[in-house]
Amino acid sequence: MGGRHTLIGDMLLAATLLTAVAVVGVGMVAFTHQQTAEPIEARRQEQTLRQLNAVLPPQRYTNNPAADTKEVRDPRLGTDGPVTAYRARRHGEPEAVVLTVIAPDGYSGPIELLVAINMDGNLAGVRVVEHRETPGLGDAIEAQRSDWIEGFQGRSLDDPPEEEWTVQRDGGAFDQFTGATITPRAVVRAVARALDFYEDEAEMLFDTRREDN
Ligand SMILES: Cc1cc2nc3c(=O)[nH]c(=O)nc-3n(C[C@H](O)[C@H](O)[C@H](O)COP(=O)(O)O)c2cc1C
Repeated sequence: MGGRHTLIGDMLLAATLLTAVAVVGVGMVAFTHQQTAEPIEARRQEQTLRQLNAVLPPQRYTNNPAADTKEVRDPRLGTDGPVTAYRARRHGEPEAVVLTVIAPDGYSGPIELLVAINMDGNLAGVRVVEHRETPGLGDAIEAQRSDWIEGFQGRSLDDPPEEEWTVQRDGGAFDQFTGATITPRAVVRAVARALDFYEDEAEMLFDTRREDN
């Protein structure tokens, strides 16, 4: 009789302990999340700014483009999902916009780009943020590997003319790489589509909101 009583008691104790451990565990996860969410957001903004500064020198703007964003949707940006447009303003006046653009047709999948476009439609700069192209072949799109990506600076839809916005292999104005045409072609076309989007939507990108002075 006493033994059975103890067995039930043990089971109850075990169940209670398990519940307690679970409750404490969930509480700790919630606490940690609450404690870290803000620093993570701050770090994310810092990292974004560093990437933006590679395509747009900080002297060009007086606002915080990492916090002055607009979500836009357009198939020309390479994705069905929302794309972040970072807006750079100088003493309140629109200066440039940086778009996160996807080149969907890389050799090894999508290539993520930052495309900075000045108000007048000229490119301030382009950088690859993420890609899975082959080392030694497709990765010459990285600024660390070659100066190819610098070739976009100052270009616009008129320079070269729109039909030459592809690699030389296709009759275009941009170099391909030895043995690798697919990667640079994907990037050039993605940048051209982003410029085309900008041409139509510049006004929408910079709505009437003024962020700084
Ligand atoms: C293993 C392997 C990896 C490749 N990686 C790439 C790549 O990252 N980017 C690329 O454009 N082509 C890559 N290629 C080459 C393409 O298959 C294709 O041949 C080339 O882009 C066409 O360029 P071409 O017309 O100058 O020969 C790779 C080929 C092989 C066999």
